[in-house]
Amino acid sequence: MKLRIRTIRTQTIRLALVLLTIGMVTARAQFPFQQQKPKGQWMDKTLSPDQRADLVIAQMTLDEKVSLLHGGGWAELFGLFTPGGNAPATKSLGNAGYIPGIPRLGIPDLQMADAAVGVTHGSVFGRYCTALPSGVSEASTWDLALAREYGALIGRELRDQGYTMSLGGGIDLTREPRNGRIFEYKGEDPILAGKMVGAEMRALQEQGVVGDLKHYAMNDQENGRNYVNIKIDRRAMRESDLLAFEIGVKDSGVGAVMCSYNLVNGDYACENDYLLNTALKKDFGFQGFVISDWGATHSVAKAALAGLDMEMPGNDHFGEPLKKAVESGEVPASRLNDMVHRILRSEFAVGLFDNPPDRKSVDPMAGFEVAQRVAEQGTVLLKNADAQLPLDASRIRSIAVIGSHADVGVLSGGGSAQVDAAGGNAVPPRAGLSPMEQVFGNPVWHHSSPLKAIRAKAPNAKVEFNEGTDTAAAASLAHASDIAIVFVSQHASEGLDVPSLALPQNQDALVSAVAAANPHTIVVLETGGPVTMPWVDHVGAVLESWYPGIRGAQALANILFGEVNPSGKLPLTFPKSEADLPRPELAHQPAGRPEDMKTLFPGVPYKENTRQFDLAYDEGLKVGYKWYDAEGKGPLFAFGHGRSYTTYAYSDLKLTPGQSPAVTFTVKNTGARAGADTAQVYATLPTAAGEPFQRLVAWEKVQLGPGESKTVTAKLDPHYLSIFHDDHDAWELVPGDYQVQVGGSSRDTPLHGTLSIK
Ligand code: NOJ
Repeated sequence: MKLRIRTIRTQTIRLALVLLTIGMVTARAQFPFQQQKPKGQWMDKTLSPDQRADLVIAQMTLDEKVSLLHGGGWAELFGLFTPGGNAPATKSLGNAGYIPGIPRLGIPDLQMADAAVGVTHGSVFGRYCTALPSGVSEASTWDLALAREYGALIGRELRDQGYTMSLGGGIDLTREPRNGRIFEYKGEDPILAGKMVGAEMRALQEQGVVGDLKHYAMNDQENGRNYVNIKIDRRAMRESDLLAFEIGVKDSGVGAVMCSYNLVNGDYACENDYLLNTALKKDFGFQGFVISDWGATHSVAKAALAGLDMEMPGNDHFGEPLKKAVESGEVPASRLNDMVHRILRSEFAVGLFDNPPDRKSVDPMAGFEVAQRVAEQGTVLLKNADAQLPLDASRIRSIAVIGSHADVGVLSGGGSAQVDAAGGNAVPPRAGLSPMEQVFGNPVWHHSSPLKAIRAKAPNAKVEFNEGTDTAAAASLAHASDIAIVFVSQHASEGLDVPSLALPQNQDALVSAVAAANPHTIVVLETGGPVTMPWVDHVGAVLESWYPGIRGAQALANILFGEVNPSGKLPLTFPKSEADLPRPELAHQPAGRPEDMKTLFPGVPYKENTRQFDLAYDEGLKVGYKWYDAEGKGPLFAFGHGRSYTTYAYSDLKLTPGQSPAVTFTVKNTGARAGADTAQVYATLPTAAGEPFQRLVAWEKVQLGPGESKTVTAKLDPHYLSIFHDDHDAWELVPGDYQVQVGGSSRDTPLHGTLSIK
């Protein structure tokens, strides 16, 4: 507990600075986008981003180069120091980061905003920003077209507000389901997470802003995130966590990758030669720049030579010390030029030089529309016994709506990804919280009322609300109603992990009591990640709506009453119990006296337990369902699971071997409603590969009218069938027989076949 408090305190200081800073900047910011019209040969659009970057670099002084490699954020905006003697900080838009451009060369400002699930800190400026459903909800759609819409919307809203770079794109895999940031990420499978974020970031960058992927790599828990040393072998990381980044980078051409706080095999991620130089830049072909997570830079030459290109925020390492290291030859001038080149080429590639942001007001209606569609498709119907859903409003006289502030709003995830609630927190926080504490650790509820949305669908029914804090009163209302809909939630936030997978605040007892009182009990979950459900056998239906965003209630009501047929599928496993996890206990930083007095920013010292600790990923590449399959453990709800109001049948599997392997099969909607099923293709590699468990290799979301059949051909990317051979330092396709399984979830694959690859 003490450790958690300390983490929160650290975060509190940090966020206090952010918010104070933002306040100050608001008062001073004036037309920050008016740049001088760029001139120079590099404005020739027929040249490539690389050529254009080099032409600019040829004109730059050493000081100018160094000035692009670090910047302000919180502290710089706070007026505590001005990095590198750059242009006044007052042009900053006041979000997470700001690096002034160089007007004489037309180099644009980098205005960075946290924007994992929507643009953050809008309210400080009185601006509207769309709160999208969480990243894990987006991943539950398994829909690349929707991922593109998600990214395009964030890109557009960033640009409309004058931002030129997004800090989003989180894809750390769910190795630790208690991680407080799972809601930002895209689940446990590297191919699903990589493809979804690749689609999202490509679309975001098409809006003319630089995107990023984070947190590279294996920043899988918040507990001790600055001090945990992840121990993992190369094959395991290349085939799991790093594969997600590899696919994301290749599919999107993303401009930046943020290295994480933790250490990996003894080196900090932001000075880890293998992660940055070898894997990311050489093997994945990443051409953009590596930006440190906030405060994650620990050295000058070591970091620069290992592949870090930008320190954020501050100039402790990549300010004057880097200049000196270049002058002394410790960091070669060629490496300095490479760092600058990577930043400029990313800016050219998205059009920042040619087409700087032109501020205009954000379109909330467009945001509502996308947010609602993602929520509708990302909601997962986990259970639906006896077709209790959808509800038929014409036959219901009364509905009890219980718990989780369902009268006023829907929950969201906290920390740097927190999108401000339009109109303020629907559940006002207790008095005395600092602005920082209101965002980190304190739940924020968006004004999207499930109670109102349900009432609108059932105008002739008596729909009553009980807040759920008094279990007996809730059960009594449930008993007196035809239907009971219980909302349960678990808040999650950057800066702290959830203490356990059990629902907090006596909510398990609440559900049990309601279920005992009413056989038509429907549970709606609003959680960051998986939770345990001791009551699952006693309720009629369970819907996982994650953190469903600004139109969450409307989306949910459409699903409850059947206007939308649910099609979401789990991007991560729900375990039966924490005992089944690779680590039944969350790994904790060893207790100890604070070992260091640190100074985060001048004048703001704080104490921190700086003791490093090892965390061995003994499960290796068996992340998520691979672990449960390999260990013979049955999950509560399997990866890929998700029910529908119709049913589907699979048939006619045909396998195409050879250079371009493919899988063909037929999916039929055997019910009376239109729907969409995500058909999933899994492969188990030949014995010689040494991976006797299946992996997802392809999927296709198929829209089907009642009774309709479609034949699907899914091409199998040989990369996704390969293993990473550590001795050869290369991916290899192992010749032999591949067992192929096809179906509607990782544990429901009616089609089986053998694919020979020579
Ligand atoms: C730290 C978080 O880990 C990162 O995701 C975020 O982008 C930065 N802070 C900036 O707020």
